[in-house]
Amino acid sequence: MRYLAALGAFFILLAAYPEASQAKVSGPCVNCHTMHNSQGGSPMAFVITGGSKVYGGLVNEGLLNTNCIGCHQGTNVIGSVPFVLGTGGAPNYGITGTEAGTNTLAGGNFYWVSSGSERTGHNIAGITPLDSAHGVTPPGGVAMGGQITCGGILGCHGNPSAATQTQAIMGGHHGKDITIWQDGTTVAKSYRFLSGIQGMEDNSFELQPTPSKHNKYYGKNRVSETDLAAGTISSHCARCHGNFHNGSGKIASGTFGAGVWLRHPVDFDMSRAISSTEYVTYNNGIGTGNPYSVISPVATASTSTSVNTTVDISTSANNGIVMCLSCHRAHGTPYDGILRWNYKRWPQADGYNGCAVCHTTKD
Ligand code: HEC
Ligand code: HEC
Ligand code: HEC
Ligand code: HEC
Ligand code: HEC
Repeated sequence: MRYLAALGAFFILLAAYPEASQAKVSGPCVNCHTMHNSQGGSPMAFVITGGSKVYGGLVNEGLLNTNCIGCHQGTNVIGSVPFVLGTGGAPNYGITGTEAGTNTLAGGNFYWVSSGSERTGHNIAGITPLDSAHGVTPPGGVAMGGQITCGGILGCHGNPSAATQTQAIMGGHHGKDITIWQDGTTVAKSYRFLSGIQGMEDNSFELQPTPSKHNKYYGKNRVSETDLAAGTISSHCARCHGNFHNGSGKIASGTFGAGVWLRHPVDFDMSRAISSTEYVTYNNGIGTGNPYSVISPVATASTSTSVNTTVDISTSANNGIVMCLSCHRAHGTPYDGILRWNYKRWPQADGYNGCAVCHTTKD
């Protein structure tokens, strides 16, 4: 009997999801839920350790047969469950996580941080030990009550005041409809269950994205450094790393956008840059209709369901908004600082100058 359930779970981990384009969970309930966590007297809940299921006495909330990491680890192929922790060796990140053959997603992958390079990812409880440099304190923010988790009060996904991560995302998995603009009004309608955050979701989670197939990140062209920019992807990071995004005297010296910067601008449109001649050639463009870069992407103020394929710098279209994810990924990369490219190693051969996608005269 356990064999059958295990087979069900095996199906989840490896099989392609035909309905993945809705990103709403589907299939037999038994693949994911266990009614009593007992069958023939044996527990049905499991964790995955070293690639194998280990059944134990643990009971999961939501009658689930495993936890977030139990379902979200594996190797990505088109149509698979979004896997954020690679198993069976390092995922293929290529140079920037976007090239042909790469198998990481928009958030990157926790593989490298789980393998001991603690600067390469968020040190999530259950995947890695506590970060020895940062502990429970997010740089730019205040100490949290414990190690960072996937969701809830100590985590990123779901309701940020829920005590546990499953409570935080309740209703999300069965309620998701990725064909609509995620307006942030509920967890299910929030961009990737990040409560309150808006955006449009790529149905393959940015597995090998192109300028016309990628996530659409919501941003705001702010006029002051005290604007929290509710709903933007950068405001999500700011929930923990506040000083890197907003706060009086934290971002800009003098008038926001008219003087010099104290910290790199985010939620700021490139058309406003003083030295705008540098940015008009963003990603080898001419100022209007520049191709969107999947290497150093930008956010947009547009809330339509159409994907932003081009960026305008010479007009204030507010579709060239710098965001945290212009330089970082959220989960992990092979590089220190969870950067999208190997910043530290440029200009050596194994480095990459992603800054030059925008700072076109600094290459
Ligand atoms: C029992 C398995 C299972 C568990 C447990 C689980 N997930 Fe998922 N999750 C899935 C599947 C399957 C999908 C993809 C559905 C699809 O695309 O068809 C998914 C999708 C997602 C997505 C993408 C949603 C979107 O916007 O498209 C996020 C984010 C996510 N899960 C986070 C979590 C978090 C956080 C937890 C723990 C609190 C968790 N999941 C627990 C199976 C699971
Ligand atoms: C692919 C995995 C998967 C399958 C299959 C699945 N569920 Fe779930 N379900 C989840 C996850 C993960 C959660 C908890 C997190 C959440 O709500 O997002 C959940 C939550 C729920 C909830 C509470 C939240 C809500 O949306 O109401 C109910 C009830 C539920 N499932 C019933 C079912 C039933 C009945 C079936 C079969 C028809 C089923 N599930 C099939 C993964 C799955
Ligand atoms: C729930 C709180 C929380 C949120 C939200 C959050 N972080 Fe963090 N972040 C932390 C904590 C805690 C640390 C320090 C411990 C660690 O590295 O895991 C950290 C560390 C980091 C680091 C340094 C990693 C290292 O070890 O040097 C970067 C970079 C980072 N976060 C970027 C981001 C970005 C980008 C976002 C938004 C996509 C984000 N964070 C959202 C809590 C958070
Ligand atoms: C222009 C690119 C860029 C943008 C935009 C950016 N970062 Fe960074 N971030 C970096 C680089 C590069 C580093 C590595 C350290 C350094 O050189 O300052 C870094 C380091 C960090 C660290 C680690 C600091 C430490 O003490 O170890 C955190 C946390 C972080 N960034 C969070 C964020 C958040 C949150 C945002 C958005 C509000 C953001 N970053 C926007 C480039 C960027
Ligand atoms: C998505 C586009 C983008 C990326 C990627 C980017 N920048 Fe910037 N950066 C800007 C914009 C826009 C400004 C604001 C310029 C202005 O106000 O004139 C800026 C400002 C700066 C400034 C401050 C200039 C001032 O006026 O005070 C520095 C330094 C800088 N960036 C360095 C970097 C480095 C290093 C990287 C790579 C880690 C990087 N940037 C990546 C768009 C970007």
